[in-house]
This record gives sequence, C-alpha cells and structure tokens, in this order.
Amino acid sequence: MLQLGDASKNQVISVQMNHPLTILGIESSCDETAAAVIRGGKIVSNVVMSQLMHQKYGGVVPELAARAHETNMIPVVTAALEAAAIQKCALDGVGFTQGPGLLGPLLVGSCFAKSFAFSLGIPLIAVHHIQAHVLANFIDDPKPTFPFLCLTVSGGHTQIILVQDYFSMEVLGETQDDAVGEAFDKIASLMGLGYPGGPLIDHYAQGGNPQAFAFPATHMPGFDFSFSGIKTAFALFMRKQTPEFLLAHRADICASIQAILVRMLLDKFTKAAQKSGIATVALAGGVAANSYLRQQLKTLAQQHHWHIFIPAMPYCTDNAAMVAIAAYYKYQLNEFADLSIKSLPRYPIG
Ligand code: KG4
Ligand code: ZN
Repeated sequence: MLQLGDASKNQVISVQMNHPLTILGIESSCDETAAAVIRGGKIVSNVVMSQLMHQKYGGVVPELAARAHETNMIPVVTAALEAAAIQKCALDGVGFTQGPGLLGPLLVGSCFAKSFAFSLGIPLIAVHHIQAHVLANFIDDPKPTFPFLCLTVSGGHTQIILVQDYFSMEVLGETQDDAVGEAFDKIASLMGLGYPGGPLIDHYAQGGNPQAFAFPATHMPGFDFSFSGIKTAFALFMRKQTPEFLLAHRADICASIQAILVRMLLDKFTKAAQKSGIATVALAGGVAANSYLRQQLKTLAQQHHWHIFIPAMPYCTDNAAMVAIAAYYKYQLNEFADLSIKSLPRYPIG
C-alpha cells in the first residue's frame, strides 16, 4: 500500500498494488527528447536525446524540434524501457509534459503519451514542466520537507517558488523580462561561444577572476528579477573590445558575468528566505547545473544554517526522470488526464 499527501488536507490516497508502482515519464517541451522509468519511487532508467541541429541557428527552431521529437520518440522510449529491463505491459501509467514549452514539441510528446497509455489501457498523467523541475529535488535522498523555497532557473523561467506541497506551489517573485538562462545564452552568443551558452560560460569561467570586470546588477522591487538590462550592458561592453582583448580575457569575462548573474539570483533568494522565515531551500532548472551557483548557494546555506537541496546534474537540465517522479506522485492522488489535447499556459503553476 502506498500513501501520499498531507493528511490535514484530506489528500491521503491509498493505492492497493501487488507490485511497485511503475510509471513511464516523457519530456518533449523543448529540444530534449527524453524518457524515464520510475519503479517504487526509484528512477530505474533515464534516457535523454539532445537535438544538436539547433546549435548552428544559435537557438531552438521549434518546427525542427517537433520533427526531431517525432523521429526520436520511439527509440528513446524503447531505450528507457530496455534500460529499466521492463516490458511495456508492466507499466501502470504514462506521464508526459503538458507544458509550458514549445507547442509543436509538446504536441508530439502528448500525442505519443496519450496513444501509448490508450493502447496499454493505463492512466495518462499530465505534468507541469516547472513543477517537474521542482520535484526533481525528490528523486534522490534525502528529500526536502515542506514548506521550502525553490529558486527555479531555466531557459524560460526565473522564479522564487514557495513549495507548500507536491502540487501546491506559489510564485513569490519572478523575472519581469528575460529568464536568467536566456541571459546566459545571449551573452555566450555575443561572445561567439556557441549554444546553449550557459554550460559554455560555466566552462570558460573556470580559473577566471569573478571580480575582474564590473557589470551593473539590476535591482527590482520585491522578489522579482530583471535580466534584460545586464544583457544590454554586456552588448555595449562587447562593442568596445577588440577580438584580441576578448580572447585574452575570456576566462575573466565569463567568470565576472557569471558572478553578477548568480549574485542577482542569490541576493533575492536570500531576501525571500529571510522574509518568509523558511530555512529549507532548493534549486531547480537547467541553470541549477551552474557550478558557481551551486557552490555559492552551499556557502550561503552554511552562513544562514539552511537545509539545502540541489538535484544531481542529470536532473537539472530537461529530463524525463523529473516528469516520471511528478507523475508518480500524481498517480497516487488519482489525478489522471483525459484524452483531449491542450497546452498549459505559464501561469498559474500551483
Ligand atoms: O531547464 P532547461 O534545460 O530548459 C528549460 O526549461 O528552459 O534549461 C536550459 C537553460 C539554458 O538557458 C542553458 O544555457 C542553461 O539552462 N544551462 C546553464 C548551465 N547548464 C544549462 N546555465 C548556466 N550554467 C550551466 N552549467
Ligand atoms: Zn526545463
């Protein structure tokens, strides 16, 4: 018997089963085709196929991404089932990313998941992409306890989320323009480093001096963020430098811009933790893979005596393990999707 939920909210649902609950998760919101299997609460396979063809365009081309998902979906799902050593008839449910994301890619994932669940006669579970990023913190042990604050940072989102329960999340503050991942990508593109830019800036910043160059932070009221100003400041800085200077100082430039972006995130996050009095904090989303952000958050956690949770690297950038664990929890709440097709808006996430 499995139990889940907050008894005070009458959410406890018991599921009688004679085998560990086994769910296939599918992610296709952007340019990763991914599938994972969760069995009895443990991820037993996690397959991600990244679409490299977008690199030459400097960003994701939605139509090409949708077509690549069509090509990759069956091989990726087959690989995930094989790696988990299970037959499809052993699945109890299929979870998929309903949104937010690119419409074409989402349609491919949702159509596949629906057809697969329908043909197997098992429930379909619709998952919110950002909730899945947050719930990636529950994949490994130890797991966070509620309530906690999650700094959710990706290519499309920059949010401080108050997580009250698995599916009860409130956005306390967020970017009013670009996401921080977008800023990383744009800055890397201005430097001619390639796409996606976040991992490249992280890489080239190693050994650089984070104080070598001063870039202006933008201060927003409350718990909100803004990253468009720093992007423009960086573009103006780039115009004044020679290619020789940029090459010679690449590590220092990357370390400095990375440091200010991380400081903008963590200054606000610290303020939110102090104001809310919540001392359990977590990171989520693709930018959570940033080594400097991870290290700086750990340092802050020591100073403020926070309990800190950071997903393992494979669970930060888009993956299906996070979709599988979100679906695993939803299954136990009996929250199943119907067969209609609709995309989720960015809001609300709770
Ligand atoms: O969560 P994600 O894989 O996709 C979205 O939901 O958007 O996040 C992708 C973002 C990209 O902007 C990418 O540059 C950034 O995460 N990213 C990083 C790192 N790895 C991925 N940013 C900074 N440092 C990294 N190591
Ligand atoms: Zn994502």
